[in-house]
Amino acid sequence: MRIGILTSGGDCPGINATIRGVCKTAINHYGMEVVGIHSGFQGLLTKDVEILDEKSLSGLLNMGGTMLGTSREKPFKKKGVPAGSDKPGEIARNIEELGLDCVVCIGGNGTQKTAAKFAAMGVNIVSIPKTIDNDIWGTDFCFGFDTAVSIATDAIDRLHSTASSHKRVMVIEVMGHKAGWIALYSGMAGGGDVILIPEIPYNIKNIGETILNRLRKGKPYSIVVVAEGIQTDGRKRVAEYIAQEIEYETGIETRETVLGYIQRGGSPTSFDRNLATRMGGHATELISRREFGRMITWSMNEISSLPLGEVAGKLKVVPEDHDLIIQGQRMGISFGSSVHSAHL
Ligand code: F6P
Repeated sequence: MRIGILTSGGDCPGINATIRGVCKTAINHYGMEVVGIHSGFQGLLTKDVEILDEKSLSGLLNMGGTMLGTSREKPFKKKGVPAGSDKPGEIARNIEELGLDCVVCIGGNGTQKTAAKFAAMGVNIVSIPKTIDNDIWGTDFCFGFDTAVSIATDAIDRLHSTASSHKRVMVIEVMGHKAGWIALYSGMAGGGDVILIPEIPYNIKNIGETILNRLRKGKPYSIVVVAEGIQTDGRKRVAEYIAQEIEYETGIETRETVLGYIQRGGSPTSFDRNLATRMGGHATELISRREFGRMITWSMNEISSLPLGEVAGKLKVVPEDHDLIIQGQRMGISFGSSVHSAHL
Protein backbone atom coordinates (compact mmCIF):
# COMPACT_ATOMS: atom_id res chain seq x y z
CA MET A 1 0.00 0.00 0.00
CA ARG A 2 1.05 3.61 -0.53
CA ILE A 3 -0.11 6.05 2.16
CA GLY A 4 0.05 9.84 2.41
CA ILE A 5 0.52 11.78 5.66
CA LEU A 6 -0.20 15.44 6.37
CA THR A 7 -0.24 17.80 9.33
CA SER A 8 -2.80 20.58 9.51
CA GLY A 9 -3.71 23.44 11.90
CA GLY A 10 -1.65 24.83 14.80
CA ASP A 11 1.67 23.06 15.34
CA CYS A 12 2.62 21.43 18.65
CA PRO A 13 5.34 19.25 20.17
CA GLY A 14 4.79 15.59 19.31
CA ILE A 15 3.72 15.94 15.68
CA ASN A 16 7.10 14.73 14.43
CA ALA A 17 6.98 11.82 16.88
CA THR A 18 3.61 10.90 15.37
CA ILE A 19 4.94 11.11 11.82
CA ARG A 20 7.79 8.85 12.94
CA GLY A 21 5.35 6.39 14.57
CA VAL A 22 3.18 6.15 11.46
CA CYS A 23 6.02 5.93 8.95
CA LYS A 24 8.41 3.58 10.74
CA THR A 25 5.55 1.14 11.45
CA ALA A 26 4.23 1.43 7.89
CA ILE A 27 7.65 0.88 6.30
CA ASN A 28 9.14 -1.71 8.69
CA HIS A 29 6.09 -3.72 9.74
CA TYR A 30 3.69 -3.44 6.81
CA GLY A 31 6.06 -2.80 3.92
CA MET A 32 4.08 0.26 2.90
CA GLU A 33 5.36 3.26 0.93
CA VAL A 34 4.90 6.63 2.66
CA VAL A 35 4.40 9.99 0.95
CA GLY A 36 4.82 13.13 3.05
CA ILE A 37 2.41 15.91 2.06
CA HIS A 38 3.64 19.46 2.74
CA SER A 39 1.63 22.28 4.39
CA GLY A 40 -1.51 20.35 5.30
CA PHE A 41 -4.37 20.10 2.79
CA GLN A 42 -2.69 22.84 0.70
CA GLY A 43 -0.06 20.24 -0.26
CA LEU A 44 -2.80 18.04 -1.74
CA LEU A 45 -4.00 20.91 -3.89
CA THR A 46 -0.49 21.60 -5.23
CA LYS A 47 0.76 17.98 -5.08
CA ASP A 48 3.68 19.29 -2.95
CA VAL A 49 4.94 15.91 -1.66
CA GLU A 50 8.09 13.94 -0.83
CA ILE A 51 8.77 10.22 -0.37
CA LEU A 52 9.58 9.50 3.28
CA ASP A 53 12.19 6.84 4.10
CA GLU A 54 14.20 5.76 7.14
CA LYS A 55 16.71 8.57 6.54
CA SER A 56 14.06 11.29 6.48
CA LEU A 57 12.64 9.96 9.74
CA SER A 58 15.77 10.09 11.88
CA GLY A 59 15.98 12.70 14.65
CA LEU A 60 12.23 13.32 14.61
CA LEU A 61 11.24 11.85 18.01
CA ASN A 62 12.35 14.80 20.13
CA MET A 63 11.98 17.55 17.50
CA GLY A 64 9.25 20.19 17.99
CA GLY A 65 7.03 21.44 15.19
CA THR A 66 6.25 19.42 12.03
CA MET A 67 8.82 18.38 9.42
CA LEU A 68 6.04 18.50 6.78
CA GLY A 69 4.97 22.04 7.58
CA THR A 70 1.32 22.93 8.23
CA SER A 71 -1.42 25.32 7.12
CA ARG A 72 -4.95 26.20 8.12
CA GLU A 73 -6.27 25.43 4.59
CA LYS A 74 -9.99 24.53 4.80
CA PRO A 75 -10.89 22.94 1.42
CA PHE A 76 -14.62 22.82 2.23
CA LYS A 77 -14.82 26.51 3.15
CA LYS A 78 -17.50 28.20 1.02
CA LYS A 79 -17.11 31.90 2.03
CA GLY A 80 -14.98 33.98 -0.32
CA VAL A 81 -14.36 31.08 -2.70
CA PRO A 82 -14.52 31.89 -6.45
CA ALA A 83 -17.53 30.36 -8.24
CA GLY A 84 -16.77 27.00 -9.86
CA SER A 85 -13.84 26.22 -7.60
CA ASP A 86 -14.01 22.69 -6.25
CA LYS A 87 -11.09 22.17 -3.91
CA PRO A 88 -12.48 18.93 -2.39
CA GLY A 89 -12.90 17.40 -5.85
CA GLU A 90 -9.44 18.59 -6.88
CA ILE A 91 -7.91 17.05 -3.75
CA ALA A 92 -9.75 13.74 -4.25
CA ARG A 93 -8.47 13.58 -7.83
CA ASN A 94 -4.90 14.43 -6.76
CA ILE A 95 -5.01 11.68 -4.10
CA GLU A 96 -5.98 9.28 -6.90
CA GLU A 97 -3.25 10.58 -9.23
CA LEU A 98 -0.64 10.33 -6.44
CA GLY A 99 -1.69 6.66 -6.05
CA LEU A 100 -2.46 7.04 -2.35
CA ASP A 101 -4.51 4.19 -0.82
CA CYS A 102 -5.15 6.31 2.28
CA VAL A 103 -4.23 9.70 3.78
CA VAL A 104 -3.30 10.04 7.48
CA CYS A 105 -4.45 13.47 8.70
CA ILE A 106 -2.84 14.78 11.91
CA GLY A 107 -4.74 17.79 13.26
CA GLY A 108 -7.11 19.51 15.65
CA ASN A 109 -10.86 20.10 15.55
CA GLY A 110 -10.81 21.85 12.17
CA THR A 111 -8.80 19.03 10.63
CA GLN A 112 -11.11 16.36 12.08
CA LYS A 113 -14.09 18.16 10.49
CA THR A 114 -12.33 18.31 7.11
CA ALA A 115 -11.24 14.67 7.42
CA ALA A 116 -14.83 13.60 8.19
CA LYS A 117 -16.09 15.39 5.06
CA PHE A 118 -13.49 13.70 2.86
CA ALA A 119 -14.34 10.32 4.44
CA ALA A 120 -18.02 10.98 3.66
CA MET A 121 -16.97 11.60 0.03
CA GLY A 122 -15.42 8.11 -0.01
CA VAL A 123 -11.80 9.25 0.33
CA ASN A 124 -9.79 6.80 2.50
CA ILE A 125 -8.80 8.76 5.61
CA VAL A 126 -7.47 7.87 9.07
CA SER A 127 -6.97 10.81 11.43
CA ILE A 128 -4.91 11.39 14.58
CA PRO A 129 -5.99 14.04 17.13
CA LYS A 130 -3.39 16.80 17.68
CA THR A 131 -3.66 19.96 19.74
CA ILE A 132 -2.21 21.52 22.86
CA ASP A 133 -5.80 22.54 23.72
CA ASN A 134 -6.85 18.93 24.44
CA ASP A 135 -10.37 19.90 23.30
CA ILE A 136 -10.97 17.08 20.81
CA TRP A 137 -14.02 14.99 21.76
CA GLY A 138 -13.58 11.20 22.03
CA THR A 139 -9.99 11.08 23.30
CA ASP A 140 -8.89 11.64 26.92
CA PHE A 141 -5.68 13.29 25.79
CA CYS A 142 -4.09 14.61 22.60
CA PHE A 143 -0.34 14.71 22.24
CA GLY A 144 0.94 18.27 22.66
CA PHE A 145 -1.21 18.88 25.72
CA ASP A 146 1.16 17.35 28.29
CA THR A 147 4.07 19.35 26.88
CA ALA A 148 2.10 22.62 26.91
CA VAL A 149 1.06 21.94 30.53
CA SER A 150 4.68 21.24 31.49
CA ILE A 151 5.85 24.49 29.87
CA ALA A 152 3.06 26.49 31.53
CA THR A 153 3.68 24.84 34.90
CA ASP A 154 7.37 25.74 34.74
CA ALA A 155 6.42 29.35 33.94
CA ILE A 156 3.96 29.47 36.86
CA ASP A 157 6.61 28.02 39.21
CA ARG A 158 8.88 30.89 38.22
CA LEU A 159 6.24 33.50 38.99
CA HIS A 160 6.00 32.51 42.66
CA SER A 161 9.44 33.92 43.56
CA THR A 162 8.90 37.31 41.90
CA ALA A 163 5.35 37.57 43.26
CA SER A 164 6.48 36.88 46.84
CA SER A 165 9.54 39.16 46.56
CA HIS A 166 7.37 42.11 45.47
CA LYS A 167 4.22 41.12 47.38
CA ARG A 168 2.33 41.30 44.09
CA VAL A 169 -0.47 39.43 42.33
CA MET A 170 0.88 37.80 39.15
CA VAL A 171 -1.58 36.92 36.37
CA ILE A 172 -0.50 34.45 33.66
CA GLU A 173 -2.54 33.84 30.48
CA VAL A 174 -2.24 30.39 28.90
CA MET A 175 -3.60 29.05 25.61
CA GLY A 176 -6.44 26.57 25.16
CA HIS A 177 -8.70 28.24 22.60
CA LYS A 178 -12.29 27.85 23.89
CA ALA A 179 -11.47 25.24 26.56
CA GLY A 180 -9.76 25.54 29.94
CA TRP A 181 -7.73 22.32 29.99
CA ILE A 182 -4.27 23.91 29.95
CA ALA A 183 -5.22 26.51 32.57
CA LEU A 184 -6.76 23.85 34.85
CA TYR A 185 -3.91 21.34 34.64
CA SER A 186 -1.06 23.87 34.79
CA GLY A 187 -2.84 26.04 37.38
CA MET A 188 -3.22 23.07 39.72
CA ALA A 189 0.27 21.72 39.01
CA GLY A 190 1.82 25.18 39.43
CA GLY A 191 0.07 26.01 42.69
CA GLY A 192 -2.25 28.69 41.33
CA ASP A 193 -4.41 30.43 43.95
CA VAL A 194 -7.00 31.49 41.37
CA ILE A 195 -7.69 29.56 38.15
CA LEU A 196 -10.11 31.00 35.57
CA ILE A 197 -11.44 28.80 32.77
CA PRO A 198 -14.15 29.50 30.13
CA GLU A 199 -16.32 26.70 31.54
CA ILE A 200 -16.82 28.42 34.92
CA PRO A 201 -18.21 31.99 34.96
CA TYR A 202 -16.17 34.21 37.29
CA ASN A 203 -16.86 37.30 39.35
CA ILE A 204 -14.02 39.73 40.08
CA LYS A 205 -15.38 40.29 43.61
CA ASN A 206 -14.96 36.57 44.42
CA ILE A 207 -11.41 36.69 43.06
CA GLY A 208 -10.65 39.80 45.12
CA GLU A 209 -12.05 38.13 48.25
CA THR A 210 -9.74 35.12 47.78
CA ILE A 211 -6.69 37.36 47.29
CA LEU A 212 -7.52 39.61 50.28
CA ASN A 213 -8.21 36.53 52.46
CA ARG A 214 -4.70 35.32 51.62
CA LEU A 215 -3.32 38.74 52.55
CA ARG A 216 -5.16 38.62 55.88
CA LYS A 217 -3.62 35.18 56.51
CA GLY A 218 -0.12 36.57 55.97
CA LYS A 219 0.25 35.62 52.29
CA PRO A 220 0.66 39.02 50.60
CA TYR A 221 0.98 37.60 47.06
CA SER A 222 -1.16 35.44 44.76
CA ILE A 223 -0.82 33.57 41.48
CA VAL A 224 -3.75 33.84 39.04
CA VAL A 225 -3.85 31.49 36.03
CA VAL A 226 -6.28 32.48 33.27
CA ALA A 227 -7.30 30.65 30.09
CA GLU A 228 -7.25 32.79 26.94
CA GLY A 229 -10.87 31.85 26.23
CA ILE A 230 -12.55 33.38 29.31
CA GLN A 231 -15.08 36.20 28.95
CA THR A 232 -13.63 39.76 29.16
CA ASP A 233 -14.46 43.20 27.78
CA GLY A 234 -12.94 41.99 24.49
CA ARG A 235 -10.83 45.14 24.17
CA LYS A 236 -7.60 43.95 25.87
CA ARG A 237 -5.60 40.77 26.22
CA VAL A 238 -7.27 38.56 28.82
CA ALA A 239 -4.29 38.79 31.21
CA GLU A 240 -4.18 42.60 31.03
CA TYR A 241 -7.92 42.87 31.62
CA ILE A 242 -7.91 40.53 34.64
CA ALA A 243 -4.78 42.15 36.12
CA GLN A 244 -6.34 45.62 35.93
CA GLU A 245 -9.62 44.39 37.42
CA ILE A 246 -7.81 42.68 40.31
CA GLU A 247 -5.60 45.69 41.08
CA TYR A 248 -8.71 47.91 41.08
CA GLU A 249 -10.67 45.48 43.26
CA THR A 250 -7.92 44.74 45.83
CA GLY A 251 -5.55 47.72 45.66
CA ILE A 252 -2.65 45.24 45.41
CA GLU A 253 -0.01 45.82 42.73
CA THR A 254 -0.72 43.32 39.95
CA ARG A 255 1.31 42.36 36.87
CA GLU A 256 0.52 40.11 33.89
CA THR A 257 2.35 37.63 31.62
CA VAL A 258 1.05 36.15 28.33
CA LEU A 259 2.80 32.82 27.78
CA GLY A 260 1.69 32.55 24.15
CA TYR A 261 3.45 30.42 21.55
CA ILE A 262 6.13 29.19 23.94
CA GLN A 263 3.50 26.58 24.88
CA ARG A 264 3.66 25.19 21.32
CA GLY A 265 7.43 25.12 20.98
CA GLY A 266 10.31 22.80 21.63
CA SER A 267 10.73 19.14 22.38
CA PRO A 268 7.77 16.98 23.50
CA THR A 269 7.63 15.36 26.95
CA SER A 270 8.17 11.61 27.22
CA PHE A 271 4.41 11.16 27.76
CA ASP A 272 3.64 12.97 24.50
CA ARG A 273 6.36 11.07 22.62
CA ASN A 274 4.93 7.70 23.67
CA LEU A 275 1.31 8.79 23.09
CA ALA A 276 2.29 10.04 19.64
CA THR A 277 4.17 6.83 18.87
CA ARG A 278 1.25 4.63 19.99
CA MET A 279 -1.34 6.64 18.06
CA GLY A 280 0.84 6.69 14.96
CA GLY A 281 1.40 2.95 15.04
CA HIS A 282 -2.29 2.19 15.54
CA ALA A 283 -3.26 4.46 12.65
CA THR A 284 -1.11 2.30 10.38
CA GLU A 285 -2.70 -0.86 11.81
CA LEU A 286 -6.19 0.47 10.93
CA ILE A 287 -4.98 1.18 7.39
CA SER A 288 -3.55 -2.33 7.05
CA ARG A 289 -7.05 -3.64 7.89
CA ARG A 290 -8.57 -1.11 5.47
CA GLU A 291 -10.60 0.40 8.33
CA PHE A 292 -10.94 3.98 7.07
CA GLY A 293 -12.98 6.99 8.17
CA ARG A 294 -11.85 6.73 11.80
CA MET A 295 -9.95 8.87 14.35
CA ILE A 296 -7.45 7.25 16.70
CA THR A 297 -8.34 7.77 20.39
CA TRP A 298 -6.73 7.28 23.81
CA SER A 299 -9.13 6.39 26.59
CA MET A 300 -8.34 4.87 29.99
CA ASN A 301 -4.81 4.08 28.77
CA GLU A 302 -6.15 2.10 25.78
CA ILE A 303 -5.60 3.16 22.18
CA SER A 304 -8.71 2.72 20.07
CA SER A 305 -10.60 4.60 17.37
CA LEU A 306 -13.99 6.19 16.66
CA PRO A 307 -15.85 6.92 13.41
CA LEU A 308 -14.95 10.42 12.21
CA GLY A 309 -18.67 11.19 11.84
CA GLU A 310 -19.06 10.74 15.61
CA VAL A 311 -16.15 13.03 16.52
CA ALA A 312 -16.20 15.87 13.99
CA GLY A 313 -17.57 19.20 15.15
CA LYS A 314 -17.75 18.27 18.85
CA LEU A 315 -15.72 20.24 21.41
CA LYS A 316 -14.49 18.57 24.60
CA VAL A 317 -14.66 21.18 27.37
CA VAL A 318 -13.78 20.85 31.06
CA PRO A 319 -16.70 19.38 33.06
CA GLU A 320 -17.55 21.57 36.09
CA ASP A 321 -17.22 18.50 38.38
CA HIS A 322 -13.76 17.55 37.11
CA ASP A 323 -11.80 15.98 39.96
CA LEU A 324 -9.08 18.65 39.79
CA ILE A 325 -11.74 21.34 40.24
CA ILE A 326 -13.41 19.57 43.17
CA GLN A 327 -10.07 19.00 44.90
CA GLY A 328 -8.95 22.54 44.16
CA GLN A 329 -12.10 24.07 45.61
CA ARG A 330 -11.77 21.95 48.75
CA MET A 331 -8.20 23.28 49.13
CA GLY A 332 -9.38 26.87 48.94
CA ILE A 333 -8.35 27.53 45.34
CA SER A 334 -10.75 29.95 43.65
CA PHE A 335 -12.22 29.24 40.22
CA GLY A 336 -13.80 32.66 40.24
CA SER A 337 -17.30 31.60 41.24
CA SER A 338 -18.66 31.95 44.80
CA VAL A 339 -16.48 30.68 47.65
CA HIS A 340 -16.89 26.90 48.25
CA SER A 341 -16.63 26.01 51.93
CA ALA A 342 -18.72 23.17 53.31
CA HIS A 343 -18.30 24.34 56.94
CA LEU A 344 -19.41 27.98 56.41
O1 F6P B 1 -5.05 25.40 18.76
C1 F6P B 1 -3.81 25.70 19.29
C2 F6P B 1 -3.69 27.17 19.52
O2 F6P B 1 -2.43 27.45 20.03
C3 F6P B 1 -4.74 27.74 20.46
O3 F6P B 1 -4.47 27.44 21.82
C4 F6P B 1 -4.62 29.19 20.12
O4 F6P B 1 -5.77 29.92 20.50
C5 F6P B 1 -4.49 29.13 18.60
O5 F6P B 1 -3.86 27.88 18.31
C6 F6P B 1 -3.66 30.24 18.00
O6 F6P B 1 -3.81 30.13 16.59
P1 F6P B 1 -2.67 30.66 15.58
O7 F6P B 1 -1.52 29.72 15.67
O8 F6P B 1 -3.36 30.61 14.23
O9 F6P B 1 -2.32 32.05 16.02
